[in-house]
Amino acid sequence: ALVSMNDFLPKAKAGKYAVGQFNMNNLEFAQAIVEAAIELNSPFIYGVSEGALKYMGIEFTVAIAEAAAKKSGLPIALHLDHGSSFEVAMKCIRAGFSSVMFDGSHYSFEENIRLTKEVVKAARAMGVSVEGELGTIGGVEDDISVDEEHANLAKPEEAIRFYEETGVDCLAIAVGTAHGMYAGEPNIHFDIIEAVSKAIPVPVVLHGGSGVPDEMIRKSIAAGVGKINVNTENQVACTESIRAALNKDAKIYDPRKYLTPARSAMIEVVKSKIQLFGSSNQA
Ligand code: G3H
Ligand code: ZN
Repeated sequence: ALVSMNDFLPKAKAGKYAVGQFNMNNLEFAQAIVEAAIELNSPFIYGVSEGALKYMGIEFTVAIAEAAAKKSGLPIALHLDHGSSFEVAMKCIRAGFSSVMFDGSHYSFEENIRLTKEVVKAARAMGVSVEGELGTIGGVEDDISVDEEHANLAKPEEAIRFYEETGVDCLAIAVGTAHGMYAGEPNIHFDIIEAVSKAIPVPVVLHGGSGVPDEMIRKSIAAGVGKINVNTENQVACTESIRAALNKDAKIYDPRKYLTPARSAMIEVVKSKIQLFGSSNQA
């Protein structure tokens, strides 16, 4: 069965490793992610954005995640990514999600606390974990686009107060990463991660994990990151593989011919991230 993030995040924080959130965009993503995790005996989180939910349908999303949990026997959380309202979070919980993110980062600080608290109260009663977000993370994800100028870093004192008032199970804070690939290298503020992580008992979440150099990931984990989100790198690996297969053979028509190598490419991406995050053999 699917589990809440509280099944593995406290252990990750204590053991100084991170659990990966890999976003599910279709069946092949879901299969690639669980296959990699089976090989490395790792817990993981299926992230599902509102856009992905619309694309796959909530019934298929839950059924696929449940099938992965049954097949693997691994601790897997099915997590709403960047949930925009109390209503969408409740809809996911009712459908079988074991975890939700409420992203109130576009509201004022006080309003973000008030709305997140409501989600925590309802989710906790059902054994579902909650991630909150503070500060705005740059880049583009689905229809959410934040330019560099408007991406603002989280203030440690605010993050600590946000945790104390909401009681979230993990906290995403803007520390300089962005959604999508980077033109150059991100400027990650490790001091912010450390100040927040030291002061709260739950892990800090790093969004925008795609394209972050390995050394920066290691430093982020050492500073207190216990959950890292990756989506774009899998999308790029999948699409590059399909493009190469189609370019190589103009007569190809059986989707299995190009989706099989695409899925293999994603297995390799996810395996390398699990190894980098240190969650191998922690299931
Ligand atoms: O919430 C999802 C992630 O933050 C994904 O970011 O697409 O840059 O890996 P990414
Ligand atoms: Zn994100």
